[in-house]
Amino acid sequence: MPPSILITRPLPQEAMSLAQARATVDLYAGPYPLTKADLIARLRDKGGLVCLITETIDAQVLGAAPGLKVVANVAVGFNNIDVAAAAARGIVVTNTPDVLTETTADFAWALLMATARRVAEGDQYVRAGKFTRWEWELLWGSDVHGKTLGILGFGRIGKAMARRARGFGMRVLYHDTVRADAAAERELGATFVDRATLLKEADFVTVHTPLSPETRHLIGAKELRQMKRTAYLINASRGPCVNEAELVQAVKEGWIAGAGLDVYEEEPKVHPGLFSLPNVVLAPHIASASHETRLKMATLAVENCLAVLEGKTPPTPVNPEVLRK
Ligand code: GLV
Repeated sequence: MPPSILITRPLPQEAMSLAQARATVDLYAGPYPLTKADLIARLRDKGGLVCLITETIDAQVLGAAPGLKVVANVAVGFNNIDVAAAAARGIVVTNTPDVLTETTADFAWALLMATARRVAEGDQYVRAGKFTRWEWELLWGSDVHGKTLGILGFGRIGKAMARRARGFGMRVLYHDTVRADAAAERELGATFVDRATLLKEADFVTVHTPLSPETRHLIGAKELRQMKRTAYLINASRGPCVNEAELVQAVKEGWIAGAGLDVYEEEPKVHPGLFSLPNVVLAPHIASASHETRLKMATLAVENCLAVLEGKTPPTPVNPEVLRK
């Protein structure tokens, strides 16, 4: 009998077809979001789950699905899943790294550019019919080229940011818990510094850490006060890495020049203070949202799920120790 899997949202057709060819698929097609009660009810008889970051997969959900072998998240971040609880039950958790690295870095770069060069304000100005003549003093921003980029979290996406910075002739500083090897530093032209130095010297601080207890509120009032008054904060990682209320205060009071955000502390809620700050660019968590990449993410998640159910090694497990048991 083919394995049975729950997919919590319609995925691109190629990924759906792959799943349907090798499994019995229970597709939840809305209305969104899937409630916890519905999730538990539909997961009870499933061997696999393909889910998104909107689903919280906690010990209660995992405990209600006795036959569950794999949770395949369609995202690189997996803070929506209790990985320890899954491992304790022998459930494999997988994510979708690599396929979204460049797309996510493209978007973080777009946020950086939009923030520095006031793209969103310009768009609003034109749409409001205010562009009645060319103005010398209109919407002056900050240069990007030749400036210093500070990358917090030097994983795949952080490194992809460093590569982009080279094309802009930027000086690149980075900080991470683990220092990159000398060859990577050389190739990317990136210098390892402590966090305080990065905050003090960067013109753009961009966050690319996963969310964990250690990175929650990695940036708060103390760090924002260490940044230059002319510097910008970019966050396309996870909202809770930044203390949003303290960021609002920092921008309002001019401790920093502005911010570009794709993620929020209590998503999809956005701190109301952000709405009135013109020097903050707000995006609705879309950094990996290109047609090409979303298809690759969905396909990889389905491949991960099917591999575990067919007794094979999944391409990108988060808790590979479960496979060795
Ligand atoms: C999106 O936020 C992801 O983690 O892939």
